Amino acid sequence: MRPVRKAVIPAAGLGTRFLPATKSVPKEMLPIIDRPAIEYVVEEAVGAGLTDILIVTGRTKRAVEEHFDRNIELELALERDGKADLLRAVQYSNTLADVHYVRQREALGLGHAVSVARHHVGDEPFAVLLPDDLMIDDSVLLRAMVAAYEQHGNAVVSLQEMRPEEISSYGCADPIGEPVDGLVELRGIVEKPKREDAPSNLAVSGRYLFPPQIFDALDRIEPGAGGELQLTDAIALLLKEQPVYGAICTFGRYDVGQKIDFLKASVELALDRDDLGPAFATYLKDLVQRRGLA
Ligand code: UTP
Repeated sequence: MRPVRKAVIPAAGLGTRFLPATKSVPKEMLPIIDRPAIEYVVEEAVGAGLTDILIVTGRTKRAVEEHFDRNIELELALERDGKADLLRAVQYSNTLADVHYVRQREALGLGHAVSVARHHVGDEPFAVLLPDDLMIDDSVLLRAMVAAYEQHGNAVVSLQEMRPEEISSYGCADPIGEPVDGLVELRGIVEKPKREDAPSNLAVSGRYLFPPQIFDALDRIEPGAGGELQLTDAIALLLKEQPVYGAICTFGRYDVGQKIDFLKASVELALDRDDLGPAFATYLKDLVQRRGLA
C-alpha cells in the first residue's frame, strides 16, 4: 500500500458566516492572534507527516497563495532592520511544506471542491483537512487517522460527539457498535439529518483519510443538502463498496467558521503562548471578576 503523503485543503467556500469580514479577505486568512487560520492547518498536516499540500482556492483567495510564497522585499527590509524573529515568522509559511494550488471555478460544494484535486492526487491515498476546523492537538488525531488508514487501507473520517440539537448542522455517522481504541466502523453516514432522523450524535468533524476510489464516488453524486455537491454523499456511496471507519476526536477541535469557536480558539492559543499567556491570563482573571462571571 502506498504511504499517505498528500493533503487537500478545500478553501474555496464563500465564508458567508463571517461577512462582512470575508467580503474581501478569505475566511482562511482571518488571523488567530497573529497567524492566519490556514497556517495552523498546514502545520497540523506537516505534523502528521503530510508534506505535499494542495489548497483548493477560488476567486478572492489570492491572499492564501501570497501567504505561502516568499515576500522578498519584506524579508530584505526585516533583515536590514535586524528583526530576526519577524523574519523567521515571515519565512516559516513558505518553508513548511510543498504547497500547490488548484482553482474550484464555482463554489458547488465541498464534494466538488475535493473532486477538483483528482489530477494532483492521482492514484494515491490522501487526507482532507477543512481549514475552518482548527485542531489544537499537536496533530494527534490526524496521526492516528493516518496510522489507521495505513493499517486497514480504508477511509477514515473524524467524528465528534455533539449535543442532539446541534447534529442537524453536520454530517452524521451511524456507527457499528462501540469504538475500540478510538476507532469504529460505520454502517452509514448522512449529511445534515433532522434531529429526529439522526442515527447518532457523532458529527463528522473536518478531517478525512481517503483511498483514491473516493473520486469515482464523487463523480456519481448529485446535489444534496443545501443544493450542494456533498462530500458526505460520496462517502455514503464508498461505504456500499468498502468499509469506512470513524476516528473519535475527544479534544482540541474548534470550528472557527463559527464566531464563538473562533473566539475560544484565540483565547486558548493566546494562553499557550509564552509572549502573551501570562499577561493575558492576568487580564482574563481580572475581567471575570469585574464582570462577575465566576
Ligand atoms: P463551509 O460550508 O464551512 O464553508 O465549508 P463556507 O461555505 O466557506 O462558509 P459559510 O458556511 O458560507 O460561512 C467547509 C470548507 O469547505 C470549503 C470551504 O472553504 C471550507 O473550508 N468549500 C466549501 C470549498 O472549498 N468549496 C465549496 O464549494 C464549499
